[in-house]
Amino acid sequence: MTTSALAGSPRSSVAVPTTAVLIQRAWRAGVVVPAFNIPYLPMLEPTVRALRDTGTFGLIAVARLEWMKFGAQSLEAVAEEYRRHGDPRYTRLHLDHVPVIDEDQQAVDYADTIRRALAAGYDSVMVDGSRLSLAENIRCTREIVELAHAAGVPVEGELGAVMGHESGPTPPYDELFASGKGFTDADEAARFVAGTGVDWLSVAIGNIHGAIAQATKNQPKVAARLALDQLERIHAAAAVPLVLHGGSGIQREYLQLAFKLGIAKINVGTATRQPFERLVGQSLSQAQDAVYAAAVAVLREELGVTGTAAILGTI
Ligand code: 13P
Repeated sequence: MTTSALAGSPRSSVAVPTTAVLIQRAWRAGVVVPAFNIPYLPMLEPTVRALRDTGTFGLIAVARLEWMKFGAQSLEAVAEEYRRHGDPRYTRLHLDHVPVIDEDQQAVDYADTIRRALAAGYDSVMVDGSRLSLAENIRCTREIVELAHAAGVPVEGELGAVMGHESGPTPPYDELFASGKGFTDADEAARFVAGTGVDWLSVAIGNIHGAIAQATKNQPKVAARLALDQLERIHAAAAVPLVLHGGSGIQREYLQLAFKLGIAKINVGTATRQPFERLVGQSLSQAQDAVYAAAVAVLREELGVTGTAAILGTI
């Protein structure tokens, strides 16, 4: 799969490490790999540029809801745009959230979507069974692991409730955090990993997605905290690279510690989407400039993660 996503790239004949290898390297080095969401196709090029200009290795990601509810069009359209602008020295293509049950409680043909992503050359995929019971989540995730591993592609699963994508009101953040409601349980994480063979596990430890509902999607995100003691327990039990969703706007002091406690991939969407949406009605190039500036700021100031391409060995 390493080179198929890069077909058409001038460097497609160069052997490059797979995403599975790179996330493992990041995990062992205590370094994080950012995954930037692309809810609108013109956001892809400036995002790749921000990674390249800062010497950072990252993933270019799209979630199902971004082609259903935003302007990503389709997973194939994002793959096509990626073929034009992706850079194997700094980027790989990732399929984010394909839910089994979506945020509107509708059943999704998740296996078909993931088959399409494999055919389109995605380097890694996520299946999100977090709205299911543990047993059902294990069953659906294992089905995707078998499918994707047969194609040499790593799989991310999710356990616990990362809130924010629902259309209804969510409880006040401080209440949610204090209660620990929906946090990933360490024993369940161990059972989930053993039962699925999943490569990476997305966890809920106080992280929250930026809102996507029409009424709230432009609002500033809450500055989330992270339950680091819970993260440590999950990491010890799961023993695989962990993923943090809702990566925009998390309080900085938690992040560096989380990267040492097993978080090897962090998803960032709202931080680049909102600047793009604010400006795109006036000028596409200004909106793209804003994506570039926001991505650089996230890498330098929020995640403190620039220069990782050299550490991970992609350049
Ligand atoms: P934010 O939009 O909160 O950065 O979260 C992105 C995300 O987790 C996508 O999966």
